Amino acid sequence: MTNKMMIAIDGPASAGKSTVAKLLANELGYIYCDTGAMYRALTYEALQKGINLEDEEALIILLEKNAISFEPTEKNQKVYLNNKEVTEAIRQPDVTNSVSAVAAHSQVRKELVKRQQKIADKGGVVMDGRDIGTTVLPHAEVKIFLIASVEERAERRYKENKLNGIDTPLEQLKKEISDRDYKDSHRESSPLTKAEDAVLLDTTSLDIQQVIGKIKEVVSSRIS
Ligand code: DC
Repeated sequence: MTNKMMIAIDGPASAGKSTVAKLLANELGYIYCDTGAMYRALTYEALQKGINLEDEEALIILLEKNAISFEPTEKNQKVYLNNKEVTEAIRQPDVTNSVSAVAAHSQVRKELVKRQQKIADKGGVVMDGRDIGTTVLPHAEVKIFLIASVEERAERRYKENKLNGIDTPLEQLKKEISDRDYKDSHRESSPLTKAEDAVLLDTTSLDIQQVIGKIKEVVSSRIS
């Protein structure tokens, strides 16, 4: 269908980016890169090692020691720190609630952006995150900015958590999502913003297939 494009999908927490990006990459035969998982993997390791999350230098040293890689599977994508699988560990509430602090460091971002650009080097990639269209892949052929109401996003996260055996009350999830939105949008280094040329897509009342359908329309329009 395509000529090995770069597809950037950005938006706030739990807007459905990773579900949509993963399925879209499968359909197109593209690589899927979940950049949030990279920030999460570093956060997880820092928490494990008792590193102060404000200590940017220590975080950079930790990052230098750790390759972060992905392995696609049928229903999922496994995440590795060197040879250690951290797929589930990086979704636990302690990591979720600490990751914004790690992602706020400009040197951490610089290093991860470099790694992300390398992954996207040859095209044929769907990458999701907060700064893909603005900073990581500013020349991406397709840029999508996904949004949904906080209520809808908390409901989605609640259901996803239940499936993974995580039991956090809905009201708490709403607050955590709002807090993370605020931190991600107000940090100095590459805050969450819609790229000027990104297509805004509100997924509040759409199901996954409808969202994918709309993104594929954008992809097709870029080909023709
Ligand atoms: O998409 P996610 O919830 O897994 O992202 C985890 C955190 O990482 C989120 O709080 C924002 C940050 N992040 C970022 O700053 N830049 C990215 N490209 C991806 C994620």
